[in-house]
Amino acid sequence: MQNLTVLAARLRDAARITVLTGAGVSAASGVPTFRGENGLWRKVRAETLATAEAFENDPTLVWEWYDWRRGMIRGAQPNAAHHALAAWTRARPGVTVITQNVDGLHERAGTERLVRLHGSIWRLQCWSRCAGAPSSWENLATPLGTLPPRCPHCGGLARPAVVWFGESLDAADVRAATDACVCDVFLTVGTSAIVHPAASLVHYARRNHALTAEINLEPTPASAAVDIAIQGKAEEILGALLPT
Ligand code: OAD
Repeated sequence: MQNLTVLAARLRDAARITVLTGAGVSAASGVPTFRGENGLWRKVRAETLATAEAFENDPTLVWEWYDWRRGMIRGAQPNAAHHALAAWTRARPGVTVITQNVDGLHERAGTERLVRLHGSIWRLQCWSRCAGAPSSWENLATPLGTLPPRCPHCGGLARPAVVWFGESLDAADVRAATDACVCDVFLTVGTSAIVHPAASLVHYARRNHALTAEINLEPTPASAAVDIAIQGKAEEILGALLPT
């Protein structure tokens, strides 16, 4: 495959490589994607579960969904795509991974220099942002027990420390992601490339003269914009691209 050979050569020579990942990277671990076949948003409307309004209306229902997802993810293992990227970050100081995934599988694979744009399903936040609580705290329990969980500081509601539709991303994460778009090669992997601002990053990188490439099972809105679009499975392609 000509495209793969060109990309592999550019990756070998690149000082700064940035990889944006989405749910497709965790598909081989058995974690459902959002929009693909059997995707989560094919079964339920995002607005009923992943918005502040949904949480306000029915925190228990929202937490039941997150508790179910946490249980499913807990049983999943990082796959070859997570391991390949983690190995790149350990071997090459210029590699940064930006993820939209909240599942923690990049972390479990040992990824260094990881920017989590949409938060973590393994962290909780005080819903009312009480003064006593840290901005978020880790909770790995599966199942969580009595739902909805409470803020240990004020006793009020706790929420998942993830970004919901209509909410802003953490400014420091956005800055780190934007900074990482100054790179030699930018890869967008396993994301439908429709949720902004993550979907804009490949365009920033292009403006910064990076070689841009996509690895996805199917064409996305990013496919026409990148220099190299490769159709295939992340878990099969990434390992072969950059030997470490
Ligand atoms: P999506 O479910 O929208 O897209 C997953 C993409 O992965 C699709 O384009 C698939 O074709 C592709 N794919 C599936 N399996 C793959 C594989 N084995 N190898 C390569 N590609 C594969 O997921 P995201 O783009 O991550 O946001 O979704 C972005 C955001 O929308 C999520 O972070 C979430 C969601 O609503 C929030 O929750 C804020």
